[in-house]
Amino acid sequence: MALDLALAAPKTYLPQPCSLVIFGGDGDLAWRKLLPAVYNLNVDGVLPSHFAVVCFGLPSTEAGRNTANPDEYIRERARDGIMRFSRQPLDEDHWQDFARMLFFVPGSFGDSRAYMQLKTKLDSVDQQFGIPSSRVFYLSIPPQLVQMSVANLGKNGMVNKADEPVAFTRVIVEKPIGTDLDSARAVIRNVAAAFDEHQTYRIDHYLGKETVQNLLVLRFANSIFEPLWNSKYIDHVQITVAEDEGVSQWDLETNQMIASRIGYYEGVGAMRDMLQNHMLQVLCIAAMEPPHSLLPNVVRDAKVNVLHCLRPMTARDVKENVVRGQYIEGSEYGVRVPGYRHEVREFYRMRNEPLPPHSVNSTTETFVAMRVFIDNWRWSGVPFYLRTGKRLPKRASEVAIQFKDVPQVLFNAKPEIPLEPTVLTLRVQPEEGLSMRIVSKLPGPKVRLYPVQMEFNYASGFGRTSPEAYERLILDVMAEDATNFMRADAVEAAWKFVMPMLDHWKQERVLNLPEYQCGTWGPIEANNLIEKDGRQWRTL
Ligand code: BG6
Repeated sequence: MALDLALAAPKTYLPQPCSLVIFGGDGDLAWRKLLPAVYNLNVDGVLPSHFAVVCFGLPSTEAGRNTANPDEYIRERARDGIMRFSRQPLDEDHWQDFARMLFFVPGSFGDSRAYMQLKTKLDSVDQQFGIPSSRVFYLSIPPQLVQMSVANLGKNGMVNKADEPVAFTRVIVEKPIGTDLDSARAVIRNVAAAFDEHQTYRIDHYLGKETVQNLLVLRFANSIFEPLWNSKYIDHVQITVAEDEGVSQWDLETNQMIASRIGYYEGVGAMRDMLQNHMLQVLCIAAMEPPHSLLPNVVRDAKVNVLHCLRPMTARDVKENVVRGQYIEGSEYGVRVPGYRHEVREFYRMRNEPLPPHSVNSTTETFVAMRVFIDNWRWSGVPFYLRTGKRLPKRASEVAIQFKDVPQVLFNAKPEIPLEPTVLTLRVQPEEGLSMRIVSKLPGPKVRLYPVQMEFNYASGFGRTSPEAYERLILDVMAEDATNFMRADAVEAAWKFVMPMLDHWKQERVLNLPEYQCGTWGPIEANNLIEKDGRQWRTL
């Protein structure tokens, strides 16, 4: 029998009637992820009975700017996003049902009149759909626009601070939350000027991934793992988030750049884009102490404690424990693809803009690997190796727990042919699931040993695909469940941990980063980082 995790929590999980107001509603994230996520929630019949989506922002496409009918414009854009990216294929009946609840208010985030138009639209949508003026504002906008947007929401009477169960106001803040500790604090402060902490949901979509959530269940709903989950039995942990895509997409036949995130990524890099948030959050769930309940703040306390226990790094530690790299031209799935610096130059050339001085020979890292320690009793002396990068040989993310070797007696008596260690791997994506590598006897009269994999695969195990992370998280906000969102203290603690690395790199002012060819597993320095400990990166 399936136990609903939410039922195990003291509070009932019930998405409440509301309108979802997406700032940046015709932007890239809304097109690829948010609107397809809400469509899927509608197909699955889990949205509140009274619900609508209102997108807000200056149209980012020519089509949007020219259209006389903004609602039709956003419906077409949503339909296109769903056709391309939806987990479940577009179905005409479901689409018609979804389209009627989708609206667009064009306007600039700094323009008070636009907020009044937004308010008028929300009031009429409330009436049409029987929504009790409850709103979830999703800020899918760059951090520099956050302050202005929340201030305008407040000024125009759209923030209800009272702890109202019916006509509530909540805000979802997308990453990046700042670009360093100070700017993150500023974003937190600016949002707090209009919204209380209990109304604020800082999203990290990795926390909505099925397999990341399953880590908690695996650890605390099975009696065999927790007793082994410590430095006595675990040799080390590897967390990998590998992406095959680069920062830009190319039409390789014409050699044309067709889409690029250079505008966001250049100067940001893998440390700020992936490590400070997604990877540290996954690390927290893998390493946290058992929470005493599933109440959001109890779980979040347990997670933030891991961040507090991370061993801080001095400049010297950074040199020894952290490696960065940048992709150069190489081959991805047998096809030649350009290097990062070429993408940067091409990006500015296509926009007819001069190359900013710091981008002439960009030192933005597209790969980062590090060895970290968690200084508490459970993890004393156990290295956690983290690595993430773009243009690696494949898209594959996992948490791998490698157990200690068996004593060098009996089956492991010959040091020159060591036994394969036991490894428990949680595959975050793709092929979500878990596997356990154990040593077994090969059938036959002789005692010959062979490593075998015990496999669990979500899709075949449960006969259906897992919901996308954004589906789960948007629903969580409507159900007022903040468990899988980052509290302000966690955001700050994560920044505090990575700041010495960013500061050190800034001071170092290297002219070139360690390079790796597209389609390889990062620079050679990353191998040295783990091999000097007598260990190896896993082959994925
Ligand atoms: C985003 C990063 O937060 O996560 C992207 O900005 C990255 O650079 C993406 O590609 C990865 O998410 P996923 O769900 O595709 O693994």
